[in-house]
Amino acid sequence: MPEPVERRKSRIRKLTAAHVVIVIAFIGLLLGAYKASRNYRPQVRPLVNALSNGSSIFAPTTIFISLDGFRADFLYRNITPSLSAFVQAGTSPEYMTPSFPSVTFVNHNSLVTGLYPESHGIVGNSFWDPEFKEDFFYTDPARSMQPKWWTAEPIWVTAENQDVRTAIHMWPGSEAHIGTEPTFVDKYEGHELLKNKVDRILGLLDLPGPLDKDASLDRPRPQLIAAYVPDVDRDGHLYGPNSTEIRSTISSVDAMLGQLFSGLEQRNLTDIVNIVIVSDHGMATTSTSRLVQLDDIIDMSLIERTDGWPLYGLRPKNESDIEPLYNHLKQEATNMEGFDVYLKDRDMPERYHFSHNDRIAPLWVIPWTGWAIVVKEEFNVEEAKKTGQVYHPIGVHGYDHEHPLMRAIFVARGPAFPHTPGSKLEPFQNIEVYNLVCDSIGVVPNPNNGTLRLPLKPIGLHGSMPPKNLPEDMPEDSSNSIAMSTETTIGALSSTQASRPTIATTDAAAPTRPVIHDDVSQEDEDNNGKDTNLWWDWVKGKLDGAKDWATGVYDKVSDKISGAASNSGGGDK
Ligand SMILES: *[C@@H]1O[C@H](CO)[C@@H](O)[C@H](O)[C@H]1NC(C)=O
Ligand SMILES: *[C@@H]1O[C@H](CO)[C@@H](O)[C@H](O)[C@H]1NC(C)=O
Ligand SMILES: *[C@@H]1O[C@H](CO)[C@@H](O)[C@H](O)[C@H]1NC(C)=O
Ligand SMILES: *[C@@H]1O[C@H](CO)[C@@H](O)[C@H](O)[C@H]1NC(C)=O
Ligand SMILES: *[C@@H]1O[C@H](CO)[C@@H](O)[C@H](O)[C@H]1NC(C)=O
Repeated sequence: MPEPVERRKSRIRKLTAAHVVIVIAFIGLLLGAYKASRNYRPQVRPLVNALSNGSSIFAPTTIFISLDGFRADFLYRNITPSLSAFVQAGTSPEYMTPSFPSVTFVNHNSLVTGLYPESHGIVGNSFWDPEFKEDFFYTDPARSMQPKWWTAEPIWVTAENQDVRTAIHMWPGSEAHIGTEPTFVDKYEGHELLKNKVDRILGLLDLPGPLDKDASLDRPRPQLIAAYVPDVDRDGHLYGPNSTEIRSTISSVDAMLGQLFSGLEQRNLTDIVNIVIVSDHGMATTSTSRLVQLDDIIDMSLIERTDGWPLYGLRPKNESDIEPLYNHLKQEATNMEGFDVYLKDRDMPERYHFSHNDRIAPLWVIPWTGWAIVVKEEFNVEEAKKTGQVYHPIGVHGYDHEHPLMRAIFVARGPAFPHTPGSKLEPFQNIEVYNLVCDSIGVVPNPNNGTLRLPLKPIGLHGSMPPKNLPEDMPEDSSNSIAMSTETTIGALSSTQASRPTIATTDAAAPTRPVIHDDVSQEDEDNNGKDTNLWWDWVKGKLDGAKDWATGVYDKVSDKISGAASNSGGGDK
């Protein structure tokens, strides 16, 4: 009797083994096919901390929205009902400090890496890399979207590598193929309607979740949805941060957020999905009376290249000129207003964290907030003052990141922020955001410069009154306001699209220099229906200009210096 039993057992064992082999092979086949279809991405990870909205299971999910150029005090103009209600429902500091320099590409990369610009390598909207011997220009995607510039890992790569799926809508740098690709990438489109952004975000949330019967590995519901909104910044540059135009754009963006919030509410997702709303920097008003004519101060023919507008990073042709140029500029900075001078390796303020990278020029002329540095071929200050020519762009950022007019926002709500509604945090710098967003979707962050982790520790509640000491806008030129009111009238007569203003080019006093905006790619300005690319032309002009200086058009300037000193107008740092 024992024999047949043994035999039967062994036969069953063999059969079972064969089945197991077949099943394993089949699973392997499926896995292989899946991996091949997804570029060797591993399986979906187990559900942790999932929540149900009543009909679908949501893995930890965060919507991360950046409102370019949304200055912190824009919240207190009584034109942002949705965002203000969101502050009262969520958790936020009074403001978030950007990183230095306070420009768009730099700060969007700090937001998604948690690194100071010197560590993430995007040290300006434009800069020179001495190793590549090439310029980075953010408005030229053919160059700026090459992966080699992007040396730090952004959050979508961190998340995808940990099997958390991401959807990135127009975030600066997201088209640069930095390692593992986001599951969804939306190409930059500067004039996309705000409503489309809402539909896109809600559409991504409506994809089948991990346990829904029609769940798909190819079109999974993403756990991180990052979206970029350029509109407020664009109008800040064109019309200034205190203009009626920017007010109307702020309202439109607020209405967009309102639509998003109600879309979440309709889906019973208000307490299921996190929303983190940030901005990258603020905006300050410029003026013809707050300009520094750099070519009256130094001999530009000594300079090989200039980096990083509105700051001027100077790379002299001959290294031995760095010290004399620095000494001269430093002395002039004590005689006239409008700028500070630093050597990258000597006295660059520690708090800027703007030294440890070869992409940072050796010598920096940094304008005071609301000031601009110009060379004559783009703007001749003396002439402009005579003719009443207005300096553009009317709004500029990029200055000292701790200046109140450069302040950004951070407001969060959702299950990862389980605080009393309206909780208030100590202000923090935007290098903290990467850790917080990683924590909110259960992803382990890379080493970075942030120190905050979830849960946050509120210090109290926001009052119902606006905070004290909100920064005042700087005065515009009086000629500015005349030009502006003419422009406004023309715009009101000819245009029904309030949020899509055109640049006035018919004005006789219009500047020869085009308007600068922070659009992410080589995007057309809608210039009375004619497609032009003003900003890019200007940048190219600037490059060519650098070559002109190299040929030594500007000779001796020492006698002009005293003139410039007496010319420089008033204004406070
Ligand atoms: C909405 O979601 C909550 C959990 O956040 C759940 O308790 C409730 O039943 C849901 N409501 C509906 C109508 O499904
Ligand atoms: C839960 O969310 C899904 C996806 O957005 C949505 O289709 C569904 O209607 C929501 N359920 C409820 C009860 O609102
Ligand atoms: C740089 O300047 C130094 C001092 O003026 C001079 O001796 C040297 O020849 C210059 N180098 C070049 C490459 O022009
Ligand atoms: C910022 O983080 C990076 C990466 O961990 C590190 O190399 C760098 O030293 C840090 N910077 C500072 C100022 O701590
Ligand atoms: C800002 O705009 C308001 C309203 O138009 C005006 O009263 C105020 O003077 C402006 N502030 C500055 C500094 O121009």
